[in-house]
Amino acid sequence: MKPKAIIIGATSGIGRALAQVLADNGYYVGITGRRVKLLEELRASRPDSYLAEFMDLSEPEQARAIFNAMVEKMDGVDLVIVNSGTGKRNEELDWSMDQTIIAVNVSGCVAIANAAMHVFFRQGHGHLVGISSIAALRGSRYVPTYPASKAFLSTYLEGLRHKVRHKKRAITITDIQPGFVDTAMAQGDYVFWRAPVDKAARQIYQAICKKKKRAYITRRWRLIAWIQKTLPDFLYHKI
Ligand SMILES: NC(=O)c1ccc[n+]([C@@H]2O[C@H](COP(=O)([O-])OP(=O)(O)OC[C@H]3O[C@@H](n4cnc5c(N)ncnc54)[C@H](OP(=O)(O)O)[C@@H]3O)[C@@H](O)[C@H]2O)c1
Repeated sequence: MKPKAIIIGATSGIGRALAQVLADNGYYVGITGRRVKLLEELRASRPDSYLAEFMDLSEPEQARAIFNAMVEKMDGVDLVIVNSGTGKRNEELDWSMDQTIIAVNVSGCVAIANAAMHVFFRQGHGHLVGISSIAALRGSRYVPTYPASKAFLSTYLEGLRHKVRHKKRAITITDIQPGFVDTAMAQGDYVFWRAPVDKAARQIYQAICKKKKRAYITRRWRLIAWIQKTLPDFLYHKI
């Protein structure tokens, strides 16, 4: 029987590339997002490998109901990747932009991660992957809410890992922290070391296979993570 995965936010970028890598590796993949035309295109490329469902994380109760219905249709799920995310520069501290980031990256992602954990506890096994960001490591004046939302996600995932270890369950929790990846989200003159999306997806898949606790994508971003963590405040504020 094929292993089964659900990707939240598989319409474009990293999520779409991951859906293709999983299908290439024999998974049956539930794909979700708001842009149904893009989902349908992907499903039609390999109808036996994909189940496509509309999902808007800014409607968390509806999103949870859709997620649970997918799990039922698929008769269980081995791997859930919470990938959806949003955020662009917000120098004027526009509240509606802040609200959207919190609704999707925090409330929406937790709504699904929580539903996935209930499924995994019932099944007795599962693997939850959250696509956070290297941005989780420090605040940013350009868009204060985005790194904060990713710090929330990474710390939340650590809490879930703590819980499953304490309960001795066969559940794996992986925190993926990408640097810049060549998608619609990472455009602009501030971007450097931008990785091709296929390379990022392949490295994320390797981290999943190795059941990693945390992975920086691509690997060279480990260096930036180390700098981010060790740089004193006075230097960080100067750069
Ligand atoms: N690209 C980078 O450099 C980079 C770096 C670090 C972390 N990340 C993270 O990687 C993840 C994927 O981003 P990406 O770079 O691949 O950008 P992307 O192509 O813009 O993908 C974003 C995904 O999130 C989904 N999404 C956004 N709002 C949603 C909502 N309200 N409900 C459900 N899904 C929603 C989008 O689907 P729909 O619009 O169809 O709903 C899309 O599938 C994000 O969490 C992002 O924060 C990206």
